[in-house]
Amino acid sequence: MTTPTVVVADPLPKQVLAGLGTRFTVRRCDGTDRPALLAAVADAEALIIRSATRVDREVLAAAPRLRIVARAGVGLDNVDVEAAAEAGVLVANAPESNVVSVAELTVGLIISALRNIPAAAASLRAGQWRRADFQGSELSGRTVGILGFGRVGRLVARRLAAFDMRIEYHDPYVLQEAADPWGARAVGLGELLSGADVLTVHLPLTAGTRNLIGERELRLAKRNLLLVNTARGGIVNEKAVALALAEGRIAGACLDVFAAEPSVPRDLLALPSLLPTPHIGASTAEAQTRAAETAVSAVRDLLLPVPEPV
Ligand code: MLT
Repeated sequence: MTTPTVVVADPLPKQVLAGLGTRFTVRRCDGTDRPALLAAVADAEALIIRSATRVDREVLAAAPRLRIVARAGVGLDNVDVEAAAEAGVLVANAPESNVVSVAELTVGLIISALRNIPAAAASLRAGQWRRADFQGSELSGRTVGILGFGRVGRLVARRLAAFDMRIEYHDPYVLQEAADPWGARAVGLGELLSGADVLTVHLPLTAGTRNLIGERELRLAKRNLLLVNTARGGIVNEKAVALALAEGRIAGACLDVFAAEPSVPRDLLALPSLLPTPHIGASTAEAQTRAAETAVSAVRDLLLPVPEPV
C-alpha cells in the first residue's frame, strides 16, 4: 500500500512532524519558490503551510490528488478558500494556537513603545547615558481602543485591564453584553479612533477590512496616539501611517505585519516613531508547537483510515 504524501511548505517544528510517523511520506519544500511548490504538490494528498505559502487556483490545479490544506496558524488570507471548496479540498486552520502569543506581543510592543525601550537600549549600546531623553508614559489611566473583539482582542483587553487601562472596543459582531466580562465598552469606529491613546488592531484581513485604517481615520486620532497592528498587513494603510507619523499627527506606531511581506516600505522603516517587527506574533515555541500539532492532527484525522473496532 502506498503511503499518502504530505508536503510541508513552510518551516514547522521537526518533533511535531515526526508525529506523522511512517504512515506518510513527508516532503519538504519552500512554498515561496513557486515552481518548487507546484512540482512538490503534483502527487500530494496533503499540504501543510504557515503564512508564507500562497495556495491559490494554480496550486490547487497542480495538485489533483490533494485532499487537505492544513494551515499551522490562524489567518487564512493566504489560502483561496472558495477555490479549495470548489476543488473538494478541505481547509483546516489552528484558530486557538497562537492567540496568547499574539496578545502578549501586543502588550510587549505597547510597553516598549510607550517607554522607549528599543531606542534607550540602542543608545546605551552606542555608549550614551541619556536618561532624560527617554521619558515615556504610563499605561495606567489611558484608553486603549481595540479594533476587533475576537479571540486575540479579548485576551489583549484582559491583559491591559490589569494595567488599569480604560478599555473600549469596536466590533459590529460583538454585542456589549458579550464584552461585559472583559470590562470593555462598545463604541462606534469614529469614537474609538478619536478617544484612544492606544489603538490596537485584531481583525482578519478581508475585502471589508482592507485599508480600514487610512488617511481619513488617522485624522480623527489624538496626537498622542500609539497605533499597533499585530493582526494583518493591509488593514492599516501603510502610506497613511507613514504620513501621519512623519507629520506628527500621531505619536507612534508598532507594526508587526505588513501589506507585502517580506518587503516593507523604506520610508516607513526610516521613521524613528515606528517600532517594526517582522511578523513575530506567533513566533513562540508554544504557539508553533500547538499550531503544527493541530495541522498534523487534521491531516492524520482525514487521511488515516479509522481502525476497525475490536
Ligand atoms: C497567524 O495567522 O496564525 C499568524 O499571523 C502567524 C502566521 O502567520 O503563521
